[in-house]
Amino acid sequence: MRKKIIAANWKMHLTLNESISLTNSILTKLESTKLNGTIVLIPASLYLSEINKNIKNHHQFALGAQNFYPGIFGAFTGEISATMLSNVGVEYVLIGHSERRTIFQEKNAFLAEKINSALQEDLIPIFCCGENKNSREKGDFLETIKIQLEESLFQISCNEISKVIIAYEPIWAIGTGITPTSEEIMEVHEYIRGILASKYGTDIAENISILYGGSCNTQNASSLYTLPDVDGLLIGGSSLKADSFLEIIKNTIA
Ligand code: PGA
Repeated sequence: MRKKIIAANWKMHLTLNESISLTNSILTKLESTKLNGTIVLIPASLYLSEINKNIKNHHQFALGAQNFYPGIFGAFTGEISATMLSNVGVEYVLIGHSERRTIFQEKNAFLAEKINSALQEDLIPIFCCGENKNSREKGDFLETIKIQLEESLFQISCNEISKVIIAYEPIWAIGTGITPTSEEIMEVHEYIRGILASKYGTDIAENISILYGGSCNTQNASSLYTLPDVDGLLIGGSSLKADSFLEIIKNTIA
């Protein structure tokens, strides 16, 4: 069964108080709503424990982390491990977000280590892939995405891939207000599922959730979410305010 997910990536935004108050506004408004999916809140790492206290008794909510280092314990000054995340109630981890790839130079091989480390700790990777503007314009975007998947995911087993969630996030759509057309999104989602099917078999591929991310907002969430092969949304900017995020929830999994 594909999981339906609306994930809120708060990036390096919001203070502690703002994060708590946003969490509580969302919880309160949705208290008596039965959702057809899970809301994954992904705050700054420093606030994970605190946000966990608020959401841990709400089974429709889960906690996600934006980043970690793929070691267990050791001399890695400044880093946080998958074990540490799991200790504070984290269930999901973003891996391969374009901001990590471009600003922090995280390459496919390193992302493969992060995937392995997350799975070892029973964290669910949300593996982000997607092309930049240049690749889209050149027309080699499917090849770009194929390499991202092959080099960071294909080392894992059938059992492990079934735990992974994939997010297609074209870099040119992140934070720009521009979204691909429905046809463009469907083409890539279908392609990703096809690659997964050729590596792991159709049954497994059919059950993997593929989210779309990049400039989702209150206006487009419903039409993006209902596209065939789109199993949820990964939301940045529009998840930072209770009103817009709740509107997106109402138009998708509520
Ligand atoms: P955006 O960010 O919704 O602000 O475009 C999405 C993301 O980076 O995951």
